[in-house]
Amino acid sequence: MSPANPRILPYGEAALGEAAALIRSGACVAVPTETVYGLAADATDSDAVAGIYAAKGRPSFNPLIVHVADMDQAETIARLDAEARALAARFWPGPLTMVLPLAEGSPVASLVTAGLPTVALRMPDHRAMQGLIHASGRPLAAPSANASGGISPTRAAHVAASLAGRIPLVIDDGATSAGLESTIVESATHRILRPGPITAEQLPGYGSGSTPGAVTAPGQLASHYAPSKPVRLNALTAADGEWLIGFGDVEGDDTLSATGDLREAAARLFDALHRADASDRPAIAIAPVPQHGLGAAIRDRLARAAHPRN
Ligand code: TXA
Ligand code: MG
Repeated sequence: MSPANPRILPYGEAALGEAAALIRSGACVAVPTETVYGLAADATDSDAVAGIYAAKGRPSFNPLIVHVADMDQAETIARLDAEARALAARFWPGPLTMVLPLAEGSPVASLVTAGLPTVALRMPDHRAMQGLIHASGRPLAAPSANASGGISPTRAAHVAASLAGRIPLVIDDGATSAGLESTIVESATHRILRPGPITAEQLPGYGSGSTPGAVTAPGQLASHYAPSKPVRLNALTAADGEWLIGFGDVEGDDTLSATGDLREAAARLFDALHRADASDRPAIAIAPVPQHGLGAAIRDRLARAAHPRN
């Protein structure tokens, strides 16, 4: 693959047709969802899924999220009990991922689940990802479309920069609206495994907290979202050499939201981290963000961004 890759095609019939042909041939394609851009491959084809891990340079013990277009497709892949159906009725299509037992005869490649008896499933609310699932006729495994350990992409240009030379095509449909990866829940145990755009307040009876068996959410590696520079949290002013990302009253070189709006902050978060990483300053400082509502997910990602890369 030449360094000029990936090609970036605007969303439309032509892009979907070309992307679907690539998916059916076992290749990976980057496609936007309402959360972040995903790197999609046929979830039923283990070679194709291996291509995702290869392109990202991702540790192979990290299981991937499978994206479906409708409930029928969901039921062929996983077993949904009454609680899971209720969550689906309320939040799908949308940024909620459920960890569910695999259905009998589930067509999902075991590489997708990293051999677990469960699968992480979601129905995205985005015309490009929905269109690609329909056009390819396949459930699509898709982690965020960035090199492992990098910042999650909310624009086609982020994908192209992070995965240059490693994938053939990005479908460009502008900036993503939520800007943060989906909330992950285990409906059977009422646990929130990863905070995200669907907040704890919207999931009454669900407790946040990591899983007892560490391997059940291995994607929660502490350094998953790290920029390449040191990150200092809860900063009210910039120290020498720091690029300050503000919030609310804390003004900076950039701001997550000048009005203190958490939804705007979530949508701008990874963009702001990309700009900070690209600036000429050697370090990044970030203003305090409150813990309530979407703030929980934003702070989770910031804590990971601040954790040194290994
Ligand atoms: O918003 C999103 O969810 C994006 C877009 C592209 O849809 N996708 C995404 O996928 O964030 P990924 O692969 O980066 O996140 C996978 C997460 C990891 O934290 C992983 O541990 C968890 O899902 N996961 C996957 N399968 C699991 C399972 N069977 N049990 C527990 N956690 C699982
Ligand atoms: Mg990711």
